[in-house]
Amino acid sequence: MVQIPDAVRVEPSLLLRIARPEDAKELYSLVEKNRVYLREWLPWLDDAESIEDEIDFIKDQQKRASLKKGCLFLIELENDIVGTVSLNSIDLGNLTGWIGYWLDKDHSGRGIMTKSVAAIVDVLLVSCGFNRIVIEVGENNPSSLAIPKRMGFRNEGTSLERLWMYDRWVNSTQFAITASEWEKK
Ligand SMILES: CC(C)(COP(=O)(O)OP(=O)(O)OC[C@H]1O[C@@H](n2cnc3c(N)ncnc32)[C@H](O)[C@@H]1OP(=O)(O)O)[C@@H](O)C(=O)NCCC(=O)NCCS
Repeated sequence: MVQIPDAVRVEPSLLLRIARPEDAKELYSLVEKNRVYLREWLPWLDDAESIEDEIDFIKDQQKRASLKKGCLFLIELENDIVGTVSLNSIDLGNLTGWIGYWLDKDHSGRGIMTKSVAAIVDVLLVSCGFNRIVIEVGENNPSSLAIPKRMGFRNEGTSLERLWMYDRWVNSTQFAITASEWEKK
């Protein structure tokens, strides 16, 4: 049975840990600070309009984690939340997970997300029994496209009109890696 850890240490000052309702205030202020920036690439900003929304979201993620349907990790740099990496979806029958992520704009350009995603992919494929990890990225999102490419994911092609972004369809590129491919890296 797949067992996902509560925390993953990436570096001495960089930790991924499962979100708790007590994190809602800090996480919400980070969303608020980055709202305009994130809205360009992520579809859920209109569902996060208060600390209460954030509490509900975290509780929902906890419930999904208990059902092995997904989970939300906070990225903590020196004890401050700077972004999230989540398992947006899990296909337990086929041991596949779909990963999503976002980072505070002021912390971008330093490799924090590449290292964080690589750490969670490693845990999922090497220790948790997953066989395949997928990252779907909206077209024309070069910073996000660079992350799976840097980690050696394969480009599996374009899905047309895959993401509804407020008022328009966006195509996505699907990247994936299997456990045996990851092991050879
Ligand atoms: C996608 C997103 C997380 C990428 O952030 P990022 O800061 O570019 O990614 P990283 O933290 O891995 O940093 C990579 C940058 O740091 C540099 N870097 C420095 N040290 C590095 C290291 N050890 N490892 C990797 N990159 C390193 C890289 O060269 C790269 O710089 P560049 O942008 O000038 O090429 C961020 O743009 C974001 O949150 N966007 C909005 C939300 C979003 O699009 N989410 C994804 C939806 S599919």
